[in-house]
Amino acid sequence: MDTNRLVGPDPEGPDEEVVEAALRPKRLDDFVGQERVREQLGLVLHSALRRGRTPDHVLLSGGPGLGKTTLAMIIAAELGQPLRVSSGPAIERAGDLAAILSTLAEGEVLFLDEIHRMARPAEEMLYMAMEDFRVDVVVGKGPGATAIPLDIAPFTLVGATTRAGMLPGPLRDRFGFVAHMDFYGAAELEVIVRRSARLLEVEITDDGAAEVAGRSRGTPRIANRLLRRVRDYAEVRADGVVTEELARSALDLYEVDERGLDRLDRAVLAALLGKFGGGPVGLSTLAVSVGEEPETVEVVAEPFLVRQGLLARTPRGRVATPAAWAHLGLTPPPAAPFGPPAGTLFDTDGDEGPEP
Ligand SMILES: Nc1ncnc2c1ncn2[C@@H]1O[C@H](COP(=O)(O)OP(=O)(O)OP(=O)(O)O)[C@@H](O)[C@H]1O
Ligand SMILES: [Mg+2]
Repeated sequence: MDTNRLVGPDPEGPDEEVVEAALRPKRLDDFVGQERVREQLGLVLHSALRRGRTPDHVLLSGGPGLGKTTLAMIIAAELGQPLRVSSGPAIERAGDLAAILSTLAEGEVLFLDEIHRMARPAEEMLYMAMEDFRVDVVVGKGPGATAIPLDIAPFTLVGATTRAGMLPGPLRDRFGFVAHMDFYGAAELEVIVRRSARLLEVEITDDGAAEVAGRSRGTPRIANRLLRRVRDYAEVRADGVVTEELARSALDLYEVDERGLDRLDRAVLAALLGKFGGGPVGLSTLAVSVGEEPETVEVVAEPFLVRQGLLARTPRGRVATPAAWAHLGLTPPPAAPFGPPAGTLFDTDGDEGPEP
């Protein structure tokens, strides 16, 4: 997925990865927010530890930058086990997965990122591995092919996905614990910003932290990224201290508005309003009009816009709400659609599968 912007995993090259790694909370107790998930996960892990068993497999679902990779690392740390990392797109054949599974040590944690993008045959092999700690390795081709059963050590799978709706039922059902990560509240993000500022040795006032947090789209990765941009600005244009006023000027410069909308969010809204009169318009059409992949618009921009009450997903397509017109300072035309009444919002926009 192309997420080459504020929310994406790596728009700034390796530097960003280094900083992200440095800012990652290492233990469950340092993980800010997601109270429910944290408490539930803590029980799953600690009861397994007490029983001396490997815990159930864990599925982490949620948008980019909400802490899935961070939690996967924390799970391994809490269990005192090494973490083996791979991802759905990297597993093209069942053999690729067999190679990983057969070399896992007992109790090891296997993290499969973007698990919804794994190749089908590998997925089927994974079912059996998750359930019975066994795989059938197929040797040869055609009628002469034989399946050789292979035992694997009990392990804990941690799967992560930004598209829980795209996971086949049988795979989903094999996770004993499914954690849905939601956007973070302003107070939680403030804590994250202050924590990161401390680690990066950036001086920030409480108001400054609140300003950065408020524009972070409910997403820790964005909070950290905005903090670094604000720090740059503070170092070059001021005395290095991040105050509310300074944060505001810096973030205006970086085109992150008071509600936290970035360029992509505003481009999506502007297209929806300007080109399609507020909708309804299909996801693919909307994505093309902003020069993006449908998945980027759907996973990166839309959840936040929906959450902000600026956009609605309806059976007939995407629709702008009155708040969207107001936010862009536009007057809706008399015939603008405002979407169906609450409770009937669901997405039947073609090929995307059900919403997470
Ligand atoms: N609960 C949290 N508390 C503090 N920092 C967090 C938290 N969650 C995430 N972060 C920070 O946000 C950054 C991004 O988190 P992470 O890489 O875990 O997201 P992700 O869900 O794996 O995203 P993606 O879907 O793009 O892989 C991390 O560097 C981490 O420092
Ligand atoms: Mg990740």
